[in-house]
Amino acid sequence: MKPVALITGAAGLIGGYLVRTAPRWVPDWETRGVTRQEADLTDRGDVQRLWDRHRPDLVIHSAALSRTGLCEQDPAQARRINVEATRVLADLARDVPFIFLSTDQVFDGAKGQYVETDAVHPLNVYAQTKAEAEQVVLDNPAHAVVRIALTAGTSPTGDRSFVEDMRRAAGKGQQLTLFTDEFRCPLPAGALVRALWECAVQRRSGLYHLGGRERLSRWEIGQVLSQLYPEFRSCLQPGSVAAYHGPRRPPDLSMRSDKIQALLSFRLPGLRQWLTEFPPDCIDPWDYPASVTP
Ligand SMILES: NC(=O)c1ccc[n+]([C@@H]2O[C@H](COP(=O)([O-])OP(=O)(O)OC[C@H]3O[C@@H](n4cnc5c(N)ncnc54)[C@H](OP(=O)(O)O)[C@@H]3O)[C@@H](O)[C@H]2O)c1
Repeated sequence: MKPVALITGAAGLIGGYLVRTAPRWVPDWETRGVTRQEADLTDRGDVQRLWDRHRPDLVIHSAALSRTGLCEQDPAQARRINVEATRVLADLARDVPFIFLSTDQVFDGAKGQYVETDAVHPLNVYAQTKAEAEQVVLDNPAHAVVRIALTAGTSPTGDRSFVEDMRRAAGKGQQLTLFTDEFRCPLPAGALVRALWECAVQRRSGLYHLGGRERLSRWEIGQVLSQLYPEFRSCLQPGSVAAYHGPRRPPDLSMRSDKIQALLSFRLPGLRQWLTEFPPDCIDPWDYPASVTP
Protein backbone atom coordinates (compact mmCIF):
# COMPACT_ATOMS: atom_id res chain seq x y z
CA MET A 1 0.00 0.00 0.00
CA LYS A 2 1.25 3.47 -0.89
CA PRO A 3 1.64 6.03 1.92
CA VAL A 4 -1.14 8.63 1.87
CA ALA A 5 -0.49 12.37 1.52
CA LEU A 6 -3.39 14.63 2.52
CA ILE A 7 -3.47 18.04 0.81
CA THR A 8 -5.85 20.64 2.23
CA GLY A 9 -7.02 23.54 0.08
CA ALA A 10 -7.01 21.30 -3.01
CA ALA A 11 -9.37 23.64 -4.88
CA GLY A 12 -6.96 26.53 -4.34
CA LEU A 13 -3.97 27.66 -6.34
CA ILE A 14 -1.16 25.79 -4.59
CA GLY A 15 -3.21 22.85 -3.33
CA GLY A 16 -4.38 22.37 -6.92
CA TYR A 17 -0.80 22.20 -8.19
CA LEU A 18 0.23 19.85 -5.39
CA VAL A 19 -2.51 17.40 -6.32
CA ARG A 20 -2.00 17.71 -10.10
CA THR A 21 1.77 17.26 -9.96
CA ALA A 22 1.92 14.46 -7.37
CA PRO A 23 1.97 11.59 -9.94
CA ARG A 24 5.03 13.20 -11.49
CA TRP A 25 7.07 14.13 -8.39
CA VAL A 26 5.88 11.53 -5.85
CA PRO A 27 4.62 8.52 -7.84
CA ASP A 28 5.10 6.29 -4.80
CA TRP A 29 2.54 8.27 -2.79
CA GLU A 30 -1.21 8.25 -2.93
CA THR A 31 -2.37 11.86 -2.82
CA ARG A 32 -5.78 12.88 -1.52
CA GLY A 33 -6.85 16.46 -2.07
CA VAL A 34 -9.37 17.89 0.39
CA THR A 35 -11.76 20.64 -0.66
CA ARG A 36 -14.29 22.57 1.40
CA GLN A 37 -16.99 20.24 -0.02
CA GLU A 38 -15.41 17.32 1.82
CA ALA A 39 -14.62 19.13 5.07
CA ASP A 40 -15.04 22.61 6.52
CA LEU A 41 -11.76 22.83 8.37
CA THR A 42 -13.21 25.28 10.89
CA ASP A 43 -15.56 22.51 12.03
CA ARG A 44 -13.77 20.22 14.51
CA GLY A 45 -16.15 17.34 13.83
CA ASP A 46 -15.48 17.57 10.09
CA VAL A 47 -11.74 17.58 10.69
CA GLN A 48 -11.87 14.57 12.99
CA ARG A 49 -13.99 12.64 10.45
CA LEU A 50 -11.58 13.67 7.70
CA TRP A 51 -8.70 12.34 9.75
CA ASP A 52 -10.42 9.05 10.54
CA ARG A 53 -11.35 8.58 6.87
CA HIS A 54 -7.85 9.10 5.44
CA ARG A 55 -5.38 8.33 8.27
CA PRO A 56 -2.64 10.15 6.29
CA ASP A 57 1.10 9.55 6.53
CA LEU A 58 1.80 13.17 5.61
CA VAL A 59 -0.19 16.44 5.59
CA ILE A 60 0.49 19.52 3.50
CA HIS A 61 -1.82 22.17 4.93
CA SER A 62 -2.52 24.64 2.15
CA ALA A 63 -6.07 25.74 3.02
CA ALA A 64 -6.34 29.30 4.29
CA LEU A 65 -8.21 32.54 4.05
CA SER A 66 -5.44 33.88 1.85
CA ARG A 67 -6.87 37.16 0.56
CA THR A 68 -5.58 40.00 2.73
CA GLY A 69 -8.70 42.10 2.09
CA LEU A 70 -11.06 39.33 3.23
CA CYS A 71 -8.99 38.84 6.39
CA GLU A 72 -9.28 42.56 7.21
CA GLN A 73 -13.05 42.40 6.67
CA ASP A 74 -13.53 39.36 8.92
CA PRO A 75 -10.60 38.90 11.33
CA ALA A 76 -12.52 36.33 13.40
CA GLN A 77 -13.05 34.07 10.38
CA ALA A 78 -9.40 34.60 9.36
CA ARG A 79 -8.34 33.43 12.80
CA ARG A 80 -10.69 30.41 12.71
CA ILE A 81 -9.30 29.05 9.46
CA ASN A 82 -5.70 30.28 9.56
CA VAL A 83 -4.93 29.63 13.24
CA GLU A 84 -7.54 27.42 14.92
CA ALA A 85 -8.04 24.96 12.05
CA THR A 86 -4.26 24.69 11.77
CA ARG A 87 -4.02 23.93 15.48
CA VAL A 88 -6.63 21.15 15.28
CA LEU A 89 -5.05 19.56 12.20
CA ALA A 90 -1.49 19.82 13.52
CA ASP A 91 -2.62 18.17 16.73
CA LEU A 92 -4.23 15.25 14.88
CA ALA A 93 -1.05 15.01 12.76
CA ARG A 94 1.22 15.03 15.81
CA ASP A 95 2.89 11.75 14.81
CA VAL A 96 3.26 12.34 11.07
CA PRO A 97 5.11 14.97 8.97
CA PHE A 98 3.07 18.15 8.65
CA ILE A 99 3.93 21.07 6.36
CA PHE A 100 2.19 24.40 6.95
CA LEU A 101 2.31 27.02 4.20
CA SER A 102 3.01 30.47 5.55
CA THR A 103 3.88 33.70 3.82
CA ASP A 104 6.60 36.29 3.21
CA GLN A 105 4.06 38.78 4.57
CA VAL A 106 4.93 37.88 8.17
CA PHE A 107 7.67 40.50 7.72
CA ASP A 108 7.15 44.28 7.63
CA GLY A 109 9.30 44.72 4.52
CA ALA A 110 11.64 47.27 6.07
CA LYS A 111 14.77 45.15 5.53
CA GLY A 112 14.31 42.76 2.60
CA GLN A 113 16.36 39.63 1.79
CA TYR A 114 14.84 38.00 4.87
CA VAL A 115 16.32 34.83 6.33
CA GLU A 116 14.65 32.34 8.64
CA THR A 117 16.23 33.80 11.78
CA ASP A 118 14.85 37.32 11.18
CA ALA A 119 12.13 38.50 13.55
CA VAL A 120 8.59 38.69 12.17
CA HIS A 121 6.52 41.86 12.29
CA PRO A 122 3.18 41.40 10.52
CA LEU A 123 1.36 44.50 9.29
CA ASN A 124 -2.08 43.06 8.53
CA VAL A 125 -4.60 40.54 9.86
CA TYR A 126 -3.70 37.88 7.29
CA ALA A 127 -0.02 38.08 8.22
CA GLN A 128 -0.79 38.15 11.97
CA THR A 129 -2.82 34.97 11.74
CA LYS A 130 -0.13 33.23 9.68
CA ALA A 131 2.61 34.28 12.14
CA GLU A 132 0.53 32.96 15.03
CA ALA A 133 -0.12 29.67 13.25
CA GLU A 134 3.60 29.28 12.55
CA GLN A 135 4.23 29.15 16.31
CA VAL A 136 1.46 26.60 16.80
CA VAL A 137 3.01 24.33 14.14
CA LEU A 138 6.62 24.77 15.24
CA ASP A 139 5.68 23.66 18.78
CA ASN A 140 6.03 20.16 17.34
CA PRO A 141 9.72 19.69 16.45
CA ALA A 142 8.78 17.15 13.76
CA HIS A 143 6.63 19.66 11.85
CA ALA A 144 7.58 22.20 9.20
CA VAL A 145 6.62 25.74 8.21
CA VAL A 146 7.42 26.92 4.69
CA ARG A 147 7.06 30.66 4.07
CA ILE A 148 6.29 31.00 0.41
CA ALA A 149 6.61 33.98 -1.87
CA LEU A 150 4.20 35.47 -4.38
CA THR A 151 3.22 32.55 -6.61
CA ALA A 152 2.54 32.70 -10.35
CA GLY A 153 0.13 30.03 -11.50
CA THR A 154 -3.21 28.93 -12.87
CA SER A 155 -5.79 27.96 -10.27
CA PRO A 156 -8.61 25.41 -10.68
CA THR A 157 -11.18 28.21 -10.29
CA GLY A 158 -9.21 30.69 -12.44
CA ASP A 159 -9.42 33.48 -9.88
CA ARG A 160 -6.75 32.91 -7.24
CA SER A 161 -3.27 33.92 -8.41
CA PHE A 162 -1.97 37.46 -8.82
CA VAL A 163 -1.40 36.68 -12.53
CA GLU A 164 -5.08 35.76 -12.88
CA ASP A 165 -6.08 38.97 -11.04
CA MET A 166 -3.96 41.02 -13.44
CA ARG A 167 -5.33 39.23 -16.51
CA ARG A 168 -8.90 39.83 -15.34
CA ALA A 169 -8.21 43.53 -14.78
CA ALA A 170 -6.47 43.86 -18.16
CA GLY A 171 -9.39 42.08 -19.81
CA LYS A 172 -11.72 44.77 -18.45
CA GLY A 173 -9.40 47.47 -19.84
CA GLN A 174 -8.38 48.70 -16.37
CA GLN A 175 -5.10 50.58 -15.87
CA LEU A 176 -2.79 48.85 -13.38
CA THR A 177 -0.29 50.92 -11.40
CA LEU A 178 2.67 48.75 -10.40
CA PHE A 179 5.10 50.06 -7.80
CA THR A 180 8.73 50.38 -8.77
CA ASP A 181 9.73 50.46 -5.10
CA GLU A 182 7.93 47.38 -3.73
CA PHE A 183 9.84 44.08 -4.01
CA ARG A 184 9.10 40.35 -3.94
CA CYS A 185 10.77 37.10 -5.02
CA PRO A 186 8.01 35.57 -7.16
CA LEU A 187 8.12 31.88 -7.99
CA PRO A 188 6.25 29.83 -10.61
CA ALA A 189 3.85 27.40 -8.97
CA GLY A 190 5.38 24.39 -10.76
CA ALA A 191 8.78 25.02 -9.15
CA LEU A 192 7.21 25.80 -5.78
CA VAL A 193 5.32 22.52 -5.52
CA ARG A 194 8.28 20.51 -6.80
CA ALA A 195 10.28 21.94 -3.87
CA LEU A 196 7.46 21.21 -1.42
CA TRP A 197 7.23 17.60 -2.56
CA GLU A 198 11.00 17.16 -2.20
CA CYS A 199 10.89 18.52 1.36
CA ALA A 200 7.90 16.32 2.15
CA VAL A 201 9.52 13.05 1.10
CA GLN A 202 12.66 14.00 3.02
CA ARG A 203 10.46 14.50 6.12
CA ARG A 204 12.02 17.88 6.77
CA SER A 205 11.02 19.82 9.86
CA GLY A 206 11.62 23.41 11.00
CA LEU A 207 11.26 26.74 9.24
CA TYR A 208 12.09 27.44 5.58
CA HIS A 209 11.81 30.30 3.09
CA LEU A 210 10.77 29.37 -0.43
CA GLY A 211 10.89 32.06 -3.09
CA GLY A 212 12.28 32.74 -6.53
CA ARG A 213 15.93 33.52 -7.19
CA GLU A 214 15.25 37.05 -8.48
CA ARG A 215 14.20 40.03 -6.36
CA LEU A 216 11.85 42.00 -8.61
CA SER A 217 9.80 45.13 -8.13
CA ARG A 218 6.07 44.93 -8.87
CA TRP A 219 6.77 46.96 -12.00
CA GLU A 220 9.52 44.56 -13.11
CA ILE A 221 7.17 41.63 -12.49
CA GLY A 222 4.64 43.31 -14.78
CA GLN A 223 7.30 43.80 -17.46
CA VAL A 224 8.31 40.12 -17.28
CA LEU A 225 4.65 39.04 -17.50
CA SER A 226 4.09 41.27 -20.54
CA GLN A 227 6.25 38.84 -22.54
CA LEU A 228 3.64 36.19 -21.92
CA TYR A 229 0.53 38.37 -21.88
CA PRO A 230 0.96 41.11 -24.51
CA GLU A 231 -2.38 42.63 -23.47
CA PHE A 232 -0.59 43.92 -20.34
CA ARG A 233 1.58 46.30 -22.36
CA SER A 234 -1.13 48.89 -22.86
CA CYS A 235 -2.51 48.82 -19.31
CA LEU A 236 0.53 48.81 -17.00
CA GLN A 237 1.91 52.01 -15.60
CA PRO A 238 4.76 52.53 -13.10
CA GLY A 239 4.07 54.16 -9.74
CA SER A 240 5.60 54.68 -6.32
CA VAL A 241 4.34 53.34 -3.02
CA ALA A 242 5.22 56.78 -1.62
CA ALA A 243 2.17 58.15 -3.45
CA TYR A 244 -0.15 55.41 -2.15
CA HIS A 245 -2.76 56.41 0.47
CA GLY A 246 -4.05 53.28 2.16
CA PRO A 247 -3.12 50.69 4.79
CA ARG A 248 0.63 50.35 5.36
CA ARG A 249 2.27 48.06 2.80
CA PRO A 250 5.51 46.11 3.31
CA PRO A 251 7.97 47.60 0.79
CA ASP A 252 10.51 44.80 0.46
CA LEU A 253 9.40 41.23 1.13
CA SER A 254 12.28 39.60 -0.69
CA MET A 255 13.48 36.41 1.01
CA ARG A 256 16.62 34.33 0.82
CA SER A 257 15.86 30.67 0.14
CA ASP A 258 19.38 29.24 0.63
CA LYS A 259 18.32 26.92 3.45
CA ILE A 260 15.70 25.08 1.39
CA GLN A 261 17.82 25.30 -1.78
CA ALA A 262 20.50 23.18 -0.10
CA LEU A 263 17.97 20.32 0.20
CA LEU A 264 16.68 20.40 -3.39
CA SER A 265 17.71 18.43 -6.47
CA PHE A 266 17.09 21.45 -8.75
CA ARG A 267 17.88 25.15 -8.76
CA LEU A 268 15.02 27.44 -7.72
CA PRO A 269 14.31 29.72 -10.69
CA GLY A 270 13.54 33.41 -10.88
CA LEU A 271 10.45 34.54 -12.79
CA ARG A 272 12.38 36.10 -15.67
CA GLN A 273 14.71 33.14 -15.97
CA TRP A 274 11.75 30.73 -15.93
CA LEU A 275 10.14 32.31 -18.97
CA THR A 276 13.47 32.26 -20.83
CA GLU A 277 14.14 28.63 -19.95
CA PHE A 278 10.63 27.34 -20.58
CA PRO A 279 9.13 29.38 -23.40
CA PRO A 280 5.38 29.12 -22.99
CA ASP A 281 4.49 26.54 -25.60
CA CYS A 282 3.04 24.22 -22.97
CA ILE A 283 -0.51 24.03 -21.62
CA ASP A 284 0.36 25.80 -18.37
CA PRO A 285 3.26 28.27 -18.57
CA TRP A 286 3.70 28.10 -14.79
CA ASP A 287 4.29 24.36 -14.61
CA TYR A 288 7.23 22.41 -15.97
CA PRO A 289 6.79 21.23 -19.55
CA ALA A 290 6.44 17.46 -20.00
CA SER A 291 10.09 17.24 -21.10
CA VAL A 292 11.27 17.94 -17.53
CA THR A 293 11.37 14.62 -15.69
CA PRO A 294 12.22 13.92 -12.04
N1 LIG B 1 -0.60 32.18 -3.62
C1 LIG B 1 0.38 32.90 -3.08
O1 LIG B 1 0.98 33.76 -3.77
C2 LIG B 1 0.76 32.66 -1.64
C3 LIG B 1 1.85 33.38 -1.14
C4 LIG B 1 2.24 33.19 0.19
C5 LIG B 1 1.57 32.24 0.97
N2 LIG B 1 0.51 31.56 0.46
C6 LIG B 1 -0.13 30.57 1.34
O2 LIG B 1 -0.15 29.32 0.66
C7 LIG B 1 -1.36 28.61 0.98
C8 LIG B 1 -2.09 28.29 -0.31
O3 LIG B 1 -2.38 29.52 -0.96
P1 LIG B 1 -3.28 29.56 -2.25
O4 LIG B 1 -2.82 30.70 -3.06
O5 LIG B 1 -3.38 28.21 -2.86
O6 LIG B 1 -4.68 29.96 -1.60
P2 LIG B 1 -6.14 29.81 -2.22
O7 LIG B 1 -6.06 29.69 -3.69
O8 LIG B 1 -6.96 30.89 -1.62
O9 LIG B 1 -6.62 28.40 -1.64
C9 LIG B 1 -6.95 28.22 -0.31
C10 LIG B 1 -7.96 27.10 -0.24
O10 LIG B 1 -8.34 26.94 1.14
C11 LIG B 1 -9.70 26.60 1.13
N3 LIG B 1 -10.36 26.93 2.40
C12 LIG B 1 -10.51 28.15 2.97
N4 LIG B 1 -11.25 28.05 4.08
C13 LIG B 1 -11.57 26.74 4.22
C14 LIG B 1 -12.32 26.00 5.17
N5 LIG B 1 -12.89 26.58 6.22
N6 LIG B 1 -12.44 24.66 5.00
C15 LIG B 1 -11.87 24.05 3.95
N7 LIG B 1 -11.16 24.68 3.00
C16 LIG B 1 -11.01 26.02 3.14
C17 LIG B 1 -10.30 27.45 0.03
O11 LIG B 1 -11.52 26.90 -0.33
P3 LIG B 1 -12.55 27.69 -1.26
O12 LIG B 1 -11.96 27.58 -2.64
O13 LIG B 1 -13.81 26.96 -1.10
O14 LIG B 1 -12.57 29.10 -0.76
C18 LIG B 1 -9.22 27.38 -1.04
O15 LIG B 1 -9.48 26.31 -1.94
C19 LIG B 1 -2.14 29.51 1.93
O16 LIG B 1 -1.85 29.10 3.24
C20 LIG B 1 -1.58 30.89 1.68
O17 LIG B 1 -1.67 31.67 2.84
C21 LIG B 1 0.09 31.75 -0.83
